[in-house]
Amino acid sequence: MDAKRVAAEKAVEFIHDGMVVGLGTGSTAYWAIRKIGEAVRNGLRIQAVSTSIDSEKLAEEWMIPLISMSEVEEIDITIDGADEVDDEGNLIKGGGGALLREKIVASVSKKLIIIVDESKKVNHLGKFPLPVEVVPFGHEITLRKLRTLGCETKLRLQEGSTFVTDNGNYIVDCIFHRISRPKELHDAINMIPGVVDNGLFIEMADKVIIGYSDGSMKVI
Ligand code: 5RP
Repeated sequence: MDAKRVAAEKAVEFIHDGMVVGLGTGSTAYWAIRKIGEAVRNGLRIQAVSTSIDSEKLAEEWMIPLISMSEVEEIDITIDGADEVDDEGNLIKGGGGALLREKIVASVSKKLIIIVDESKKVNHLGKFPLPVEVVPFGHEITLRKLRTLGCETKLRLQEGSTFVTDNGNYIVDCIFHRISRPKELHDAINMIPGVVDNGLFIEMADKVIIGYSDGSMKVI
C-alpha cells in the first residue's frame, strides 16, 4: 500500500461541505487532491485554493472549484506534504519548489494538516537540504550570505538549467546536516536581502498524519 496515499486519504476526511480548502503540492498532496476530486464528483461542495500551478492543473482535471488567493480572507483547512517533520511538528518544505505559496496559504489556514510517509519523520531537521527561495537579482551574493550561516549551498537546477519557481524566483538548497535551532535559523535566513522565504515551517502544523506501507497511520 502507498504510505503517502494512506496519509492523504485520511486527511481528506476532515473536509466538509462549505469549506475553503488549501491544496498542497507534491506526490503526497497529489493523492489528497485526487481524493477531494472524487468527493466533489460525489457531491462535496467546497472551494479550493492551490499552492502551485501543478496542483491547480490537477485540481482542474478533477473539476475541483478553484478560487484565487485574492478572493480569500481565510482558509478552513489546508492539506499539504512535507520533506521532514520533527518531534515538535516543525517542518522542512519546498522539495517541490512551492514553499512560498505553501507558506502564504498555510499562514491564513485555520487548520494545516501535514501528510507524510514514515520516512519523513525525523528527530532533528536538516538532513534534507533546506530550500530557500531567492530573487534572481544578485543571487550569487545572497548565496554567499547564506553560507555564512554554516551551510553548503546548491542552486537548484532542472534539466541543466536554473530551476524557476511559479513566482519567477530561484531555489537554493542549503545543506546544514542538522538544524538545532529551527526558529532562529528561519529568522536569520529571512533577514538576508534577496531571500524571499525559506522552507522552515515553525509551529504551523495543527496535525501531522503519518502513513505506513502496511496501510496503518498515526495522527499526531
Ligand atoms: C513542495 C513541498 C512538498 O510538500 C514536499 O516536497 C513533499 O513532497 P512529496 O509529497 O512529493 O514527498 O513542500 O514544495
